[in-house]
Amino acid sequence: MLPVTADLVLRNVTLLTGRCADISVTSGVVSHIGAAVRADETIDCSRFTCLPGAVDMHVHMRGGVQADKEDWCSGTVSAVAGGVTLVVDQPNTVPPITTAERLLARIHEAEEQAVCGFAINAGVLPDADLTGMWKAGAMAFGEIFAAPSSYGEGLDPESLRNLFARIHALGGLATIHAEEVCGMAPETLAEHDRARPPEGEARAVRRVGELAPGEMRLHFCHLSTAASVRAAHGTVEVTPHHLFLSYEDFDPDDTLARVNPPLRDKATRRALRSCWDAIDVIASDHAPHTLAEKKVQFGNAPSGIPGLETMVPLLMAEVHRGRLSLSSVIEKTSWKPSEILGISRPGFEPGDRADYALYPDELSRIDASGLHAKCGWSPFEGHEAIFPEVVIVGGVRVYAHGDLQERHPQFYPGEGYLSHPDK
Ligand code: DOR
Repeated sequence: MLPVTADLVLRNVTLLTGRCADISVTSGVVSHIGAAVRADETIDCSRFTCLPGAVDMHVHMRGGVQADKEDWCSGTVSAVAGGVTLVVDQPNTVPPITTAERLLARIHEAEEQAVCGFAINAGVLPDADLTGMWKAGAMAFGEIFAAPSSYGEGLDPESLRNLFARIHALGGLATIHAEEVCGMAPETLAEHDRARPPEGEARAVRRVGELAPGEMRLHFCHLSTAASVRAAHGTVEVTPHHLFLSYEDFDPDDTLARVNPPLRDKATRRALRSCWDAIDVIASDHAPHTLAEKKVQFGNAPSGIPGLETMVPLLMAEVHRGRLSLSSVIEKTSWKPSEILGISRPGFEPGDRADYALYPDELSRIDASGLHAKCGWSPFEGHEAIFPEVVIVGGVRVYAHGDLQERHPQFYPGEGYLSHPDK
């Protein structure tokens, strides 16, 4: 039945089918598609491409004792300014999230500061309280370090086998950082690539498949080569930096471009780009380090680059150029991650979550001084992008024309929390 009134109506939205419709939103979800009903607020979308809000399922929000790098406020403002309305935080914080108590404190910190939807993953170490965190609302497990990285110790094969079995018994999703590290101390980006070689990543992906129980749900984080994508038995995540950047784009010892897995050479990057259809999820692996931390000798610089705010804008520039389809961008940034995580998807059907970002049809150039992350730099400086003008979270206009309008934090717990017998 047609609702009498709505909280918000998005007018003149062009749907993926090409049909133009009005979307009515009540209590944070789509209540009607078709002719508009009376509403408290109306937004005309005829100038914009309306996308469902993106779900970035791989973000290092830092906070706590690392709040000088990023905190939940700066990080989530950066998210919405880039059309991301739900972030999944990684547990390699200081200290790592390995107990229910730490997870609950992390949820509390996010509730106080975040401006959009958020979820928090459980840290996976041999002594971690996996069951406690699952029941306390962890979204998924990991990233699980099958190789060492900044703020993450690599786990040995026996520990991995044991932890995978425990996660599988809980019915959880294991998200994995799979790499092989050969021990050399790199002094340049090319050496960093060789120290964590492309073939090693594919081998590590296959090894994880052998260590995990047969039917287990596996998600491979930030795969950087076509061979790794093909080797994965599970869902596959790729970052914008591995799609759009090669190490040859930077000075040989530029520490800003140091990241794990490393940026590859141009040919490897192009091959990854050519398997677009086999990629399930694009996520940023937003790992902001300050310029002061990065501007040191190559060997001492932490790995990690910021990318939350630029992720969808870079993809929208590719859509504008006709190199990617809009539907594939929506699928990989919003619908597939929602499905993998088991949360309702944002979109254009009654009952869908009312998270949207409205993109103009104009390219601009990325200028890090205008971005909202605390670190103040971007490896995509000067790249073309399309940033959203208006962003809606749960039916609330949270961001418009460069400014935060309102906070709308919402915690998304994982399936362990929903099935907790005490709830
Ligand atoms: O480069 C990276 N930095 N890769 C990771 O997996 C972790 C991240 C971080 O937390 O800084």
